[in-house]
Amino acid sequence: MIITNIGELVGIVPEGVLRKQGAEMAETGVIKDAWLAVEDGRITGFGQMADQVGHDGGRIVIPGSDRESIDAQGGMVMPAFCDSHTHIVYAGSRDGEFLDKINGLSYEEIAARGGGILNSADLLHETSEDELYRQAMERVREMMAKGTGAIEIKSGYGLNPADELKMLRVIRRIRETVPALVKSTFLGAHAVGRGYTHESYVQAVIDMMPQAAELADFVDVFCDEGFFTVDDTDRILTVGAACGLRPKIHANELAVSGGVQVGVKHNALSVDHLERTTDAEINALRGTETIPTMLPGSSFFLGIPFGRAKEFINAGLGIALASDYNPGSSPSGDIRFVMALACIRMRLTPTQALNAVTLNSAYAMGVSNITGSITPGKRADLILTHPGWTLTKIPYTYQTPFIRQVFLNGQVVK
Ligand code: NIG
Ligand code: FE
Repeated sequence: MIITNIGELVGIVPEGVLRKQGAEMAETGVIKDAWLAVEDGRITGFGQMADQVGHDGGRIVIPGSDRESIDAQGGMVMPAFCDSHTHIVYAGSRDGEFLDKINGLSYEEIAARGGGILNSADLLHETSEDELYRQAMERVREMMAKGTGAIEIKSGYGLNPADELKMLRVIRRIRETVPALVKSTFLGAHAVGRGYTHESYVQAVIDMMPQAAELADFVDVFCDEGFFTVDDTDRILTVGAACGLRPKIHANELAVSGGVQVGVKHNALSVDHLERTTDAEINALRGTETIPTMLPGSSFFLGIPFGRAKEFINAGLGIALASDYNPGSSPSGDIRFVMALACIRMRLTPTQALNAVTLNSAYAMGVSNITGSITPGKRADLILTHPGWTLTKIPYTYQTPFIRQVFLNGQVVK
């Protein structure tokens, strides 16, 4: 397949660049009036229409030949979005809590009344594995149609061994049945399961680890006030590492929790949320492999601070952005809206926001070597926009439909 007459081909990144940090986040990687070739689901080349020369210097064969060709009519082509933090395997909805929230209760108050994560755990317990898969797949299909091509999904609404494993099996089944790339995270330590004491539940999570590790790629802990302590996190991550699971941490959403530092200590791939951070967190992240990940959809929905993304970037760090799609704090998997919040509320430029939801979010789920940018050899995970769209208009006119087609692994999904 070849796409011709691309107004702007955006998100070009040289081979071997796995994330963008600091000033690099301002690089758009753009060619105007471009073409792009795809073979066997991979990006094989791109260049300018005028010279019809590929990135490797070879001449390309423009339409009318044996290749299927798509005329972009001046539309943009960009990498599909990557969403490195979601909780989309959940049962039913928490719309009752939405009303509680409107009536003034905070996230913590709803949780303290037995709502929140425990409410989702009760619903999940009653729901069959097939039904859970069916409900989650509706969300996956919606996300793919909105341009997302790689999704990390967490457990954490099971909160006992049988239900946590049920969730992880559902995530595996999604991975096996969708064209999007799917990564799986064991978040047993999301809240203390019913019927356990805090201490007995931490031990239960530790005991689940070997079985969870057969299904999951990563381990996560909600290291925050009222949930799990730095000490609990340290213990859980130590056992996770012994089972081959690298951490991705929930930290600093409700308080300055020490979660960033314990994540860095365990070489976490990412530390996520970070609505409440001090300079100590920024300093702890410098020079590490851990990418700070912010979730502006949950800041928006919960009415809590947005992360200090600009200050992180000015300190030379790269940041990723993700949806946190879940029924309690961010009931949306729309990455375009995440970009809009990043630009409007966190003052990122559209280019910084794009890098944060593509290459850097791919890095935060360990797949930036195979997706997240326009790079020869990477999966053809692409968004083709309607004619007339530019990168800036995507977060600016943030509700006008902009997607003409989505390709994942070279296949049309929308
Ligand atoms: O990332 N903060 C912890 N976990 C989720 C919310 C889960 C829920 O409320 O169901 C989050 O915001
Ligand atoms: Fe989360």
